Amino acid sequence: MRRKSYGQLCTLSGVKAVKKQNIGIGLMGLGVIGGGVARVLTDKAKVLAGQVGCPLILRKVKVLESDLVKPQAKELGLQFFTTDADEFFAEPGVDIVVEAIGGEKPALDYLKRALSGGKHVVTSNKEVIAKHGVELFALAQQYGVGLHYEASVGGGIPLIAPFQYALVANKISGIYAIINGTTNYILTRMAREGIDFPSALGTAQKLGYAEADPRNDVDGIDATYKLAILASLAFHCQVQPQDVHCEGISRLDSRDFKYARELGFAIKLLAIAKQGDNLIEVRVHPVFIPEESLLAKVDGVYNAILVEGDLVGEVLFYGEGAGALPTSSAVVADVVSAAQDVVAGGGSRARWVLEPGKSIKPMAELETRYYLRLNVADRPGVLAQVSKVLGDHLISISSVIQQAVDAVAQAAEIVIMTHPAKEAEMQQALDELGHLASVKEICNFIRVEA
Ligand code: HSE
Repeated sequence: MRRKSYGQLCTLSGVKAVKKQNIGIGLMGLGVIGGGVARVLTDKAKVLAGQVGCPLILRKVKVLESDLVKPQAKELGLQFFTTDADEFFAEPGVDIVVEAIGGEKPALDYLKRALSGGKHVVTSNKEVIAKHGVELFALAQQYGVGLHYEASVGGGIPLIAPFQYALVANKISGIYAIINGTTNYILTRMAREGIDFPSALGTAQKLGYAEADPRNDVDGIDATYKLAILASLAFHCQVQPQDVHCEGISRLDSRDFKYARELGFAIKLLAIAKQGDNLIEVRVHPVFIPEESLLAKVDGVYNAILVEGDLVGEVLFYGEGAGALPTSSAVVADVVSAAQDVVAGGGSRARWVLEPGKSIKPMAELETRYYLRLNVADRPGVLAQVSKVLGDHLISISSVIQQAVDAVAQAAEIVIMTHPAKEAEMQQALDELGHLASVKEICNFIRVEA
């Protein structure tokens, strides 16, 4: 382990604190998050220095060639900028590396390089933490430095620190989270205006809430990374993104929102993690939730995370899950925490606890209620055929709505709400329904979380 030697101060705990004139920061990336972090470090320099006990100095910024022409780069002083990773890591006096590049590569290599070089690391990178968090945490411990990632989930909403500190005495039984602002914005527009998915997505793109290539958000991948991180922390295990059952929002139709409203539900993309008897359930998909529930009222780009603990009961975290300033709020808080650790002369107090014997519950074993929307031939006996298939799979119907949608073609739309049923049985039933001549289309099926 490499440790720097500075003058020593005494602390009450006997840990040797280091006397620092200032704390050096190396920033990687000058996009939305990196640019926001640089701005906050400059604008709030005095208050941050007060929290740490000495100033935080931006010593080097690693950027892409295209960032060099940004007004902010000129404002900060181009002499601090480099496009070369080797030059960045060779900069002396950097105590904390802030990674705001995003994506798995080359960020993972940079993070490993920083940690093994004895630098404390702050990152907003959900993909790297979700996929490699345990490995990076071990590296941080090996080199006696901290790995901080508050901004990786929920932007400015404090979530990682509560799981690491304030909630540690709890056994967490469930997390129910709206953790993707883009999809929540799209679903809010669809619910309020009765518009279809492509036009809601188009509006979100025009307003800058959705990216030109929106797949990471609309397919649920972004939420999957975030849920993997939260579930790992909450349940003391390693949940990998591929453990999470993931479905996006693109198959939702304006008609689903119409029926949801009639039945007293809202439709949300929820990230759900539950723990029972060492079996962990992790899934991201659209759900029907009761319209009077707290999460149903979370609209637009806002995020909300409901956590159930055995001591605390239910706690709800709500706020802006993305954007330069909310995300900088979390990144800079981590920088201050890391800087305090540098001054105190130790690594982070945070742990990534791994308890043995936990495993992921197969999706096929899920038991829940379902909403099912079918396009069928409007003739005698069809409803009986459909209910026979469901009955054969022990799926009990709780209510049915039928509407003639095309009198000439004798087509009808059937909406079925079921009692709790097994996912495996529902999947087989859907397969069989798809083979009935009287079923023209299985328009959608949505799980109910009530
Ligand atoms: N694209 C994410 C969202 C923000 O829409 O919530 C970054 O995690």
